[in-house]
Amino acid sequence: MSTNLTKHSFLVSRQQRESNNGHPGLVVWFTGLSGSGKSTIANELDVELNKRGLRTYILDGDNVRMGLNKDLGFSPESRKENIRRISEVAKLFADSGAIVMTAFISPYREDRDSARDVIGRDHVEVFVNTPIEECIKRDPKGLYKKAIAGEIKGFTGIDAPYEQPLSPEISLDNLSIEDSLAVLMGFLRTKCIIK
Ligand code: ADX
Repeated sequence: MSTNLTKHSFLVSRQQRESNNGHPGLVVWFTGLSGSGKSTIANELDVELNKRGLRTYILDGDNVRMGLNKDLGFSPESRKENIRRISEVAKLFADSGAIVMTAFISPYREDRDSARDVIGRDHVEVFVNTPIEECIKRDPKGLYKKAIAGEIKGFTGIDAPYEQPLSPEISLDNLSIEDSLAVLMGFLRTKCIIK
């Protein structure tokens, strides 16, 4: 725990940044199994929002784990730390007035609840609810095959848990990419994030 810190306030407010951007800052937190479609759906949403000139960014598990979080593995403690760091980074993005989409398995309810606490009111949890059988069938990275063969230990959905969200703002229940996108855009319209 650091001590002797003083929080600085900045001359340009969040409100000013949001007004420049023409939309509020927001975190769209995708959670779901590996291969469920989190990154794909986040990418498609990103395209749609960018067509409309919104300021966005994607934080993605595989990418962030190659940089900021390359010191972390997949034990429950490492996953907790992974999600803690991402929550803090996502919060900064939202504070900058951007719409940030996070695509992490984030398998533990407690860690996702902490993320919600850190981020606060700008947090929208999206459960990409694709059944494990479908994820195994897709197996885009060949990791399920390895996990089932026992070559990867502690793989989410095989020999490590995925705790389903109990009350996500949005649940994409085995929907196509197009339908997922329609649900997300509809939600953002209702919340007046987009017109
Ligand atoms: S999380 O559990 O800490 O949220 P994160 O989303 O960052 O996971 O990373 C998941 C990605 O790491 C998977 O999509 C997969 O490509 C890879 N991976 C490697 N080992 C594992 C594992 N044991 N469990 C789950 N994903 C793994």
